[in-house]
Amino acid sequence: MKSADLVVSNCNQLLTCRSSLPKRKKDLQDLQILEKGCIASYKGRIIFIGHERELNKEVTLEKNGLWINGKGLTAVPGLVDSHTHLPFGGSREEEFLLRLNGYTYQQLAQKGMGIKSTVESTRKIPENELFELCLSRLDSMLRHGSTTVEAKSGYGLNEKDEIKQLKVLKALHRAHPVDIVSTFMGAHEVPREFKSKKREYMNLLIQRILPQIKKNNLAEFFDIFCEQGVYSLEETRELVKAAQKAGFPIKIHTDEFVPLGGTNLAVKEKAVSAEHLIAITQKGIDLISKSNTVATLLPAVPFFLMQEKKPPARQLIENGAIVALASDFNPGSSMTESMFFVIQLAVFTLKMRIEEAINAATINAAYAIKREQEIGSLELGKKMDLLLCEVPNYAHLVYHMGINPVQHVIKNGKLVVQDRLLVRDPKESHT
Ligand code: NIG
Ligand code: FE
Repeated sequence: MKSADLVVSNCNQLLTCRSSLPKRKKDLQDLQILEKGCIASYKGRIIFIGHERELNKEVTLEKNGLWINGKGLTAVPGLVDSHTHLPFGGSREEEFLLRLNGYTYQQLAQKGMGIKSTVESTRKIPENELFELCLSRLDSMLRHGSTTVEAKSGYGLNEKDEIKQLKVLKALHRAHPVDIVSTFMGAHEVPREFKSKKREYMNLLIQRILPQIKKNNLAEFFDIFCEQGVYSLEETRELVKAAQKAGFPIKIHTDEFVPLGGTNLAVKEKAVSAEHLIAITQKGIDLISKSNTVATLLPAVPFFLMQEKKPPARQLIENGAIVALASDFNPGSSMTESMFFVIQLAVFTLKMRIEEAINAATINAAYAIKREQEIGSLELGKKMDLLLCEVPNYAHLVYHMGINPVQHVIKNGKLVVQDRLLVRDPKESHT
């Protein structure tokens, strides 16, 4: 008999999303579903997955353990949001209103709004206030089903404020049940004070800020915005090489508006992921599809920017790319914490199948942040990060659109959202 401190029994459907490798092509359609499934964990790790008969034979619940009856619920691995810009100050509803009056995102960026305006508000906000703001954003993410979140700096654009953002992320990782994976994105834009001195800013990044971030272990990944008017292909290559030399694995925002060849560079440099890909070329599709670089699609962005052009999800999937989905949560081009909304948009606007979208937001998203051994699927030994959704089967996760299906969330084996409300001290739910 195995001892468990948490048992969830008799779920209508239990989507395991099991896979030893990231999912491509037909595999992406396979959710590895257990009907009437049960799952148990001990000290945050999954120790049992199967049916009630085996559960009763193999598992005993500890004295103070928690038993949840999953009847009528669908169990899903905790969602992995592998691309967010979580630590920002302020908001940009004024810019949004202007967009509704016909201005484009790029026109407004040229007027000094866009990323640059969030840089100002992020520089102004004190560290403790930024921390509090992010805590409540994480609460919202957790209630919507994200149990692991990648988060980028990139609204500081100077040593002090980039480090402030990354320190906040470290503190959040300790203080909040959601696991945070940090990315340094000092090359998100060129700061105003270096407007005609980009070379100097790049030198500052390479010679001073990058080594500082590495030395103090403030971020795991390096990211850069390769786009017309931001960092050119050559500049991106130079910064990517410097980041690799400093020991960072690479992510690249690229082919969002103008195809500069950033996807090709990402593949050549063995980047972990290339993200956006709305304007990716056929060559880019061919290259990324044959590589281990994840194609991270962010369907909330063209939706929020009301753009016709969308990332070619079907072509990428059919060519064999590792496709992941993420929110890109940020105040200018995707103001949403909900990964189920992103999954729904992937189905409705990118023509992904429901199964593909769920795998792309779980196991493939975990691969996009190098956590596929730990999270992203429900398998023995992995972390017990589990959502219990108030829907009879997985189709309802998309079919019943525009609602939050998440009823309970278990993070690291602890009940952290119960009946849609946050459990303030998760330990208490065990007693
Ligand atoms: O990923 N594309 C570049 N950066 C963000 C947008 C940031 C903003 O508008 O503040 C993105 O979409
Ligand atoms: Fe982004």
